[in-house]
Amino acid sequence: MEVIIRPTTEEACLLTARVIARELRDKPSLVLGLATGGTMERVYAHLAQMHREDGLDFSLCRTFNLDEYIGLTPEDTHSYRHYMNTHLFDHVNIDIRNTHLPHGTAEDLNAECQRYEALIRECGGIDLQLLGIGQDGHIGFNEPLSALFSRTRQKALTPTTITQNACYFGGDPEQVPRRAITMGVGTILECDRCLVLVTGDRKADILAKAVEGPATAMVTATATQFHAHCSVIVDEGAATSLREKEYYRWLYDNEPEWAVFREGRA
Ligand code: PGA
Repeated sequence: MEVIIRPTTEEACLLTARVIARELRDKPSLVLGLATGGTMERVYAHLAQMHREDGLDFSLCRTFNLDEYIGLTPEDTHSYRHYMNTHLFDHVNIDIRNTHLPHGTAEDLNAECQRYEALIRECGGIDLQLLGIGQDGHIGFNEPLSALFSRTRQKALTPTTITQNACYFGGDPEQVPRRAITMGVGTILECDRCLVLVTGDRKADILAKAVEGPATAMVTATATQFHAHCSVIVDEGAATSLREKEYYRWLYDNEPEWAVFREGRA
């Protein structure tokens, strides 16, 4: 794992978008794992701009989102399908048939979870998985005590997550669905590369637990410590509680892998 600290939220989001864009240019048929939430909105805005202004090509790209609420139709403006269409897919040249989210209104939800796993396998697995971290340390909707080997399945949302997401439902926690389908922690860890983006000082303590704390199912983001290629991009606000900030700054300034980004060549 490596932690990359950028001075502002905007710079953290832009660097995340540039990493994705570089992977997509290197492999136009990239299988991209996507995340939703407030944190990712600027990342998708940057990708849309790169498509518009620099011709970033999504025509061969296939995508898999981490999760979807159970009970919301794709047309529901609160669904993650709707979020993805409005924030990214409607603004780039992706073939919408190549964009996948779990179906939260499937008649047989367990069969839907298995179908989703099989589809990821059929596409050859996920090359690059974008991840956020929730206030309770979740990745996807893998809430505390989710097995670190878990697969795509139904999960109940914790009160912390319901409160965190109420802002997207007119501020009313009662409107937030209670359950979701989510890729499992084990499913996520099978991707070739993890790209985690965390911004804002309200995430500072959970970020410190996720990257510097002991691995525990209580904070499923700690499982990313086991991934062989995991980059965590954060802003100064989110970095506040990290012990080894100076080392992480040194990393970005010295690791050859980041030179193309430091020097503006990617
Ligand atoms: P947020 O959500 O970007 O809205 O903070 C992140 C998450 O819950 O994974």
